[in-house]
Amino acid sequence: MQIDVSTLKAIFNPKLRPLIGVDISSTSVKMVELVDAGKGQPRVERYAIEPLPRDAVVDGNLAGLEAVAETLQRCWKRLGTSTRYVALALPTAAVITKKITLPAGLREQEMEIQVESEANQYIPFALEEVNLDFQVIGPAPSNPDDVEVLLAASRKEKVEDRVAAAEVAELKPVVMDVEAYAILAAYELVIKQLSNEGKDQIIALVDVGAAATKITIMRNDQQLYVREQAFGGSQLTDEIMRAYGMSQEEAESLKRSGTPPDNYETEVLHPFLENMAQEVARGLQFFFTSTPHNEVNHIVLAGGSALIPGAADIVGQRTSVNTVLADPFAGMAISPRIRAKQLAADAPSLMVACGLALRKFDQ
Ligand SMILES: Nc1ncnc2c1ncn2[C@@H]1O[C@H](COP(=O)(O)OP(=O)(O)OP(=O)(O)O)[C@@H](O)[C@H]1O
Ligand SMILES: [Mg+2]
Repeated sequence: MQIDVSTLKAIFNPKLRPLIGVDISSTSVKMVELVDAGKGQPRVERYAIEPLPRDAVVDGNLAGLEAVAETLQRCWKRLGTSTRYVALALPTAAVITKKITLPAGLREQEMEIQVESEANQYIPFALEEVNLDFQVIGPAPSNPDDVEVLLAASRKEKVEDRVAAAEVAELKPVVMDVEAYAILAAYELVIKQLSNEGKDQIIALVDVGAAATKITIMRNDQQLYVREQAFGGSQLTDEIMRAYGMSQEEAESLKRSGTPPDNYETEVLHPFLENMAQEVARGLQFFFTSTPHNEVNHIVLAGGSALIPGAADIVGQRTSVNTVLADPFAGMAISPRIRAKQLAADAPSLMVACGLALRKFDQ
């Protein structure tokens, strides 16, 4: 048996050096660089978003590795930094995590051996094909002589593809995180803006991307529910293409700016936003019927499709839940080279990139 415990090691333990958070999602590459503004307080130094060609990333797989590398390179040039160290993330679905209990006080090496043998039981493919990492969470609630340990395992090629794309773009990957964890790191900053910092409140983090809407329901540090629905901004893009005979590029640019056709708001945009609100309401309904809970106190709306003007209003109205846009940078200092207004407008789509950039500030 041979497992590589070292490759994913950096997942939980990045070094304190300049670092760019790099989100390779299905439609774009997004980069965020945070620097230490003193006393370990992050400041937003730079960010950039660069669209990916269609089908370069499919279901989290880098189907077009060259295209991804080129986009990474373009995005990095646009960022205008000298830092080449990057934190990347694996799609949540590509990672198996499992909490195990081990005796407290094991030495690092002993723990690695224990982790490997435990992992054997939980991972449904050959361990030679797997990158394995672990992190001690803390004392086990059931027994003070034990510790809880979080295992994370992913197929090697998922890690290797991302590392390869970054290296072709002349970037140096030093952290391989998991998207869901990166989002949660950014989420912690977002909820600080809610009344009483969102304490004891049930909060739905709703990420409306291009193809998918991901709903994560939290109370304090506890994840109560997760759900993914096949709804996203590409439906609006398709509808624009159909209604006005536009190309995909034209439709994408109409969504962001430009002069829309007269009937755009009433015939195309508004029905899409209504659908979005309905999808969110449906997601909450599933939460209520499959858990003992029967209310949600806040909705935090994130993802590229949250940037559509009016999205938060309609979602709030249709669900009758206080709805805010996710802005992980709201409490941060911002470099004078960044246009604060533009950053605030883009912020909901930068949760993963921001969470990854925050790894520089981990203890
Ligand atoms: N300013 C904007 N106005 C309207 N729509 C936008 C804007 N910016 C991005 N979008 C839309 O948001 C979607 C992309 O969002 P995001 O970057 O969160 O998705 P993704 O993470 O790549 O996709 P997924 O999560 O589905 O894999 C696209 O449909 C895009 O057209
Ligand atoms: Mg996404």
